[in-house]
Amino acid sequence: MAYETILFETEGPLATITVNRPKALNALSPLVVGEIAAAVAAIRDSDQVRAVILTGAGDKAFIAGADIAAMSQMTPLEGRFFSRQGQDVLFALENLPQPVIAAVNGFALGGGCEIAMACDFIYAADNAKFGQPEINLGIIPGFGGTQRLSRRVGKGWAMELCLTGGIISAEEAKAIGLVNRVFPAAELMAAAKKAALGMAAKGRVATRAVKELINGGFDMALERAIPMESEHFATCFASPDQAEGMKAFLEKRKPNFVGGLNK
Ligand code: CAA
Repeated sequence: MAYETILFETEGPLATITVNRPKALNALSPLVVGEIAAAVAAIRDSDQVRAVILTGAGDKAFIAGADIAAMSQMTPLEGRFFSRQGQDVLFALENLPQPVIAAVNGFALGGGCEIAMACDFIYAADNAKFGQPEINLGIIPGFGGTQRLSRRVGKGWAMELCLTGGIISAEEAKAIGLVNRVFPAAELMAAAKKAALGMAAKGRVATRAVKELINGGFDMALERAIPMESEHFATCFASPDQAEGMKAFLEKRKPNFVGGLNK
């Protein structure tokens, strides 16, 4: 598929989605959201892709939010449709079987912060900035921000960021647990690639199990969530990667994981 607003590249087991509207600070128009949805579907159905990086083009912004020019013309019904469109693609991204890193290389505001939070974890450049400034436009986060932010960083920080519209630095975002690691801007992509390729080399059945358990169990009662682990643990033993991983350990060599499909 030909894309107009994103770059979708694969290199071995690694897929990279780059939102590519640097003049508009990579703002998420309905077309961008639709193209990200198409790329995510292609990744979900790929047997080759084993890890994903999401980033923004240029050195100023990851994604500066949903496209305000497009939203300024929306009726309430169109606003609801756009919000649902964004929420659906973020669910699809979050539920990919492959691990996904957000490489945040500048402003991650509004929908940009929301899409980063739908990735498994966030690496940030030292010049990155995060926030949910929708309140300054007379609206609220519409791509899941009120819910994913409070789950990531707790109710107090979610309230402060959504109610004040304030913007925080990469280091502050790291201190509150929004960002895992901060790198000098020039080193961000290399660090994200290294982590992504490391995860791509792990067994697929185990990787998918980790994602399903942490995402699926997060809001469940512990007594119901923990037993799910036993079922996924058992499934790992049905994958050739379990035999290979343990054999490699005992033979003091690196494992070569090949088993299982993403689906
Ligand atoms: N939508 C559309 N265009 C945007 C944009 C956005 N979210 N963010 C920036 N742009 C455009 C600007 O309009 C400008 O375009 P022109 O050159 O054609 O005028 C260009 O990108 C560069 O932006 P600035 O000149 O404003 O750059 P700056 O360095 O002065 O400021 C900024 C950078 C602080 C990020 C500022 O652009 C800004 O505040 N952007 C909006 C951030 C925002 O409010 N995001 C939330 C959107 S609502 C949302 O996301 C809802 C949701 O949850 C789904």
